[in-house]
Amino acid sequence: MAALLSAAMRAIDLRSDTVTQPTPAMREAIAKAPVGDDVYGEDPTVDALQRRAAALLGKEAALFVPSGSMGNQASLRTHTRPGDVVLASENAHLLRYEGGAPSALWGVQVKTIGRDGLFDAGDVRRAALPSEDSHVAPTRVLAFENTHNFAGGRVFPLDTLRDACAAARELGLGLHLDGARLFNAVVATGVPAQMWAEPFDTVSFCLSKGLGAPVGSLVCGSRARIREVHRARKLLGGGMRQAGILAAAGLHALDHHIERLALDHANAKRFADGLGALGITVRPAPETNMVMFEVDDAAAFARGLRERALRINAIGPGRFRAVTHLDVTAADIDEALARIEELVREMRAT
Ligand SMILES: Cc1ncc(COP(=O)(O)O)c(C=O)c1O
Repeated sequence: MAALLSAAMRAIDLRSDTVTQPTPAMREAIAKAPVGDDVYGEDPTVDALQRRAAALLGKEAALFVPSGSMGNQASLRTHTRPGDVVLASENAHLLRYEGGAPSALWGVQVKTIGRDGLFDAGDVRRAALPSEDSHVAPTRVLAFENTHNFAGGRVFPLDTLRDACAAARELGLGLHLDGARLFNAVVATGVPAQMWAEPFDTVSFCLSKGLGAPVGSLVCGSRARIREVHRARKLLGGGMRQAGILAAAGLHALDHHIERLALDHANAKRFADGLGALGITVRPAPETNMVMFEVDDAAAFARGLRERALRINAIGPGRFRAVTHLDVTAADIDEALARIEELVREMRAT
């Protein structure tokens, strides 16, 4: 019966902003892209994307990498030696969701600071340990995540970020920004990408999240730093040949899919307001394209979602995350809410 019900319904996929299909215009840009062997440095479309990304972030250089995880890990390699400590936010993606890469690949330890994705200068000063004492694992780099995935798409307040970066510099630390969804922060705040990126040695951002490209991330920084990131990319097997096919999608995304992130943010708020009206606890209030909410009987709720062809990830006990994106309209949000209203009614009746 449940299978019949969901088979008759159009699926609405709110699992992640990574599930989008390339638009017809993006596919056309891909088809027309001039390409060459990028491992020989001969792909004009990759070059154009790298120049564009560096300019957007106000850095000297940028490198195209296959994924956000590789962007983070290749960056960390340039900041650390085995035994070093990386400071990062609670539940940072580079710690929680990258397969243990910092320790498995580079032999570094990650120490979390702050709460719910945020921290301040005091947290940095308390956590960083000196490199001179040979007993101590030296703290080498501070990593931010903005927007913060596990904290619900939260934007790091700019003043707090700058103060924490200044404290890190006083302590001689390197600075990395995991900006997988940096452009969501840009659109939500009106603060340009250059300003967010300014304090950092390395900034990675993803094309394959809210920007709607199928593959790829950029790491941006000084020319010397990006040379080191390039070496780390090689080590990780991340050199790609006629990668202009992918870079063309990225260029198209930067041209056409940044401003429209405001629609995703409005849809997230619409969804959160609708859930609230159904008596469902939304926490925290969405700032960008993610909606985190809580349900008592999570197993029954998850079953009910499946029966209604609603795809939403459970991310902890009783906790769900819905993400808005390019392939979700306001009408889809209203339809999802109507299906959830029916589910809630059914759960209350039993
Ligand atoms: C904050 C953050 N950083 C990095 C990544 C890694 O990106 P990828 O899946 O391309 O490796 C993700 C993926 O969702 C993310 O949310």
